[in-house]
Amino acid sequence: MTEIVAQPGSWVPSGMPQFDEAPRYDVRLIREDFPILRRQVNGHPLVYLDSANTSQKPRQVLDVLREHYERHNANVARSVHTLGTESTTAYEAARAKVAAFIGAASPDEIVFTKNSTEAINLVAHSFGVRLRPGDEIVISEMEHHSNIVPWQLLCERTGATLRWFRITDDGRLDLSNLEELVNERTRLVSYVHMSNILGTINPTSAIIARAHEVGAKVLLDCSQSVPHLPVDVAALDADFIAFTGHKMLGPTGIGVLWGRYDLLADMPPFLGGGSMIETVTLEKTTYALPPTRFEAGTPPIAQAIGLGAAVDYLAHLGMPAIAGHERELAAYALEAMATVPGLRIFGPAIPAGRGGTISFALDGIHPHDVGQVLDSLGIQVRVGHHCARPTCVRFGVPAMTRVSFYLYSTTDEVDALVRGLEQVRKVFS
Ligand code: ALA
Repeated sequence: MTEIVAQPGSWVPSGMPQFDEAPRYDVRLIREDFPILRRQVNGHPLVYLDSANTSQKPRQVLDVLREHYERHNANVARSVHTLGTESTTAYEAARAKVAAFIGAASPDEIVFTKNSTEAINLVAHSFGVRLRPGDEIVISEMEHHSNIVPWQLLCERTGATLRWFRITDDGRLDLSNLEELVNERTRLVSYVHMSNILGTINPTSAIIARAHEVGAKVLLDCSQSVPHLPVDVAALDADFIAFTGHKMLGPTGIGVLWGRYDLLADMPPFLGGGSMIETVTLEKTTYALPPTRFEAGTPPIAQAIGLGAAVDYLAHLGMPAIAGHERELAAYALEAMATVPGLRIFGPAIPAGRGGTISFALDGIHPHDVGQVLDSLGIQVRVGHHCARPTCVRFGVPAMTRVSFYLYSTTDEVDALVRGLEQVRKVFS
């Protein structure tokens, strides 16, 4: 396996020096890095509260994308010319940065995909190919559709059985039947690290220990945790994690599957095509080692390089500082939102064990109406089932309104939200 070579972080956020000493930062300085945050929407300053959907991008990432296309653009891994070599070096440097960011043992454990959905589908196809009738896969009721549908399809293909953890009334995973649910028939447990709809940060050690005790593997959907919390795959002891670049300051079109190297090396390819082969004859193909085996065709080159720049930015700011900022903001928001009459929060009502993603209902007012009035005030929130319909069904609603914070969000924006919700109530009273 390739050793991780630390990459010099050339793209750092503004106002950095003090951050190494204290896990805090000046959010006003950080906001200067995000050109879009200076926008007006419908005559009001933009209040962007939809970062769980996609994050905004700092100029440090935008500059790297522009620089790549203006100066280095070429295909990777198949050119001997200078531009091809520069492009390949930058692409592989991005892989090493991502590996170091999540504590992977080697860059060879990092497979670049299109997004988390593709990463999970990769595991469903390549790990799942050996499942048989009688085998079981365990997910949870709290999953995004991307961590439900691939397993339903796999069960249809193989005859395996899908089972799930339930959600408690306060929006946590119900682990009361852990031993019964994760048993000697279980081959894989695949669940969300931080819920995209409830904001819940789910426990890992008890579930992963139980899965390993019965010989099952664990995939964590880290789409909402890697952007917001320190995540170290060695400490987690999971077998696979999936996450996506565009929710962590990077471009769209780039995701990551991390897997233990021995597991990846034991899995057949997902997609066939150029680059993923060792040798091809008309009769038979042998395959390259991971991660190349799983990256058929021209990969998302600029997107991976942009993700590398995003990782530089996050690493320099420090994930503990980012998590701390969002924890304080969530606590502030939970208290402030509780002052709005008729507002019901779904998921943990206290800051402990949750992130800065808060879904709610306003009594008698449809989420789409809430979203529309807020938008007229420049406040961007997401409404709907958030691609987690079973969670909505669990709480007896067809849709929820969701606000989600990131490292650039402020208490002023929470105050604007609360004023906006009061306005919504006036409009519909
Ligand atoms: N983009 C999805 C969301 O908004 C995952 O939660």
